[in-house]
Amino acid sequence: MRIIPVASGKGGVGKTTFCLNLALTLSKYGQTVLIDLDPGTSSLRSFLDMPIKKDIFHFLKKDIPIDECITPLNTNLDPEGLFKKFYLIASPKNFVHDIVNFSDQIKTKLIRGINSIKADYVIIDNKAGLDTNVIDFLPVTNTGILIFTPKVKAATLTAAEMVRAAIFRICRTLFTQQEQFSFSLYQSKDKSENSRVITSIKEKIDEICGYDEGSFEDFLIELGKKFKNNIIIRTIRQFIENYRVYFVLNQFDSVQESADRVIKPFVERIYSSISSKISVNNLGWLVEDKEIKKSVEYGLPYLLMQHYRKKQGHKKLNSWYSELKSSVGINEKKHKKDIDIKKITDNEIDRQLNLLNKMYTHGCGKDPLTNLDFIVEGIKGIGLSSAQDLGMRKILSNQEILRNF
Ligand SMILES: Nc1ncnc2c1ncn2[C@@H]1O[C@H](COP(=O)(O)OP(=O)(O)OP(=O)(O)O)[C@@H](O)[C@H]1O
Ligand SMILES: [Mg+2]
Repeated sequence: MRIIPVASGKGGVGKTTFCLNLALTLSKYGQTVLIDLDPGTSSLRSFLDMPIKKDIFHFLKKDIPIDECITPLNTNLDPEGLFKKFYLIASPKNFVHDIVNFSDQIKTKLIRGINSIKADYVIIDNKAGLDTNVIDFLPVTNTGILIFTPKVKAATLTAAEMVRAAIFRICRTLFTQQEQFSFSLYQSKDKSENSRVITSIKEKIDEICGYDEGSFEDFLIELGKKFKNNIIIRTIRQFIENYRVYFVLNQFDSVQESADRVIKPFVERIYSSISSKISVNNLGWLVEDKEIKKSVEYGLPYLLMQHYRKKQGHKKLNSWYSELKSSVGINEKKHKKDIDIKKITDNEIDRQLNLLNKMYTHGCGKDPLTNLDFIVEGIKGIGLSSAQDLGMRKILSNQEILRNF
């Protein structure tokens, strides 16, 4: 099973639209369960005009097994059973206080429930916002899929904040249980040194989050000079160097607009406040489309609408994805020898622009069906291995995160 959370930071950028159509596209390749983790808004329910008998409420409050709270598409939406492998776990219809606010008990139960689902893909439609109710459902080594749009400029910086919040959450998890962390890095010789290192890093994280004070990477380099060969500093640096950001642009319009309005500030923000070692990967985009907008009014997902209209005019993806992958280095770890941060950032922005142009000229960018096929090809191609993962096998608790380090 592969769990892929979709998050945006800011609301209204198209998360639910994307999750629904992504899950439907993925279901062509395997059992796919879409979970609505944005309780209180009934959002996914309003995208699907069909009866839903059991949802997360029944699992969390009535102790009904999670498998019984999964709903397939109703025959009125999918009369020919074209999307038989698509399932939904809806959020409660109405406001239920401790479900909306995820008490600790609810969160633990939810995580256990999600981890027990038997499916090839689990897509999580998260709430907007940077709080722990979103961050705690993200993978440890990567962001899952972040979504933002050139139409809402502020959403870009919020998405970059999301990266920062996700990375710092892992650091905080390690440091709130200092003893265990030091223990797990066994025999690290100097306990008082480690304790000083941890205090400095914690202080720096607060400074960066509160006042945008410098880059985390620079700070760790400096700290490493003071505490040579310190295992905690090395572990955190290694974690950041291997961290991967994946994003999708919604309401994509043009290459130049996307590059200028969102990709540039996104990369700059991540590089300047966290680290230029982080790998930032564009998975593709979804164009702005009238039919997508209409699909909400009809309660019929865009993808179903198109399939039943037999509009199959979209281009089939062949081997060009792998060609693109190798020519622009998508998802390939770069060895940045440069030390000038401005130069590194500019190079990365050029690489991103080059990638956008190639994606565009390969003719994969003009209609939503092709956009979605492209993204799914990417997800399948990237796979789930320790070196280049997107998503996770299971959602880890804080204890498990500690054990994994
Ligand atoms: N690519 C698109 N083309 C046209 N309309 C779109 C597109 N993506 C999203 N929309 C429209 O934008 C609106 C907001 O989308 P959606 O509800 O998916 O956003 P969201 O990020 O899930 O919002 P929230 O934070 O409230 O959950 C919807 O009316 C949707 O139809
Ligand atoms: Mg939504």
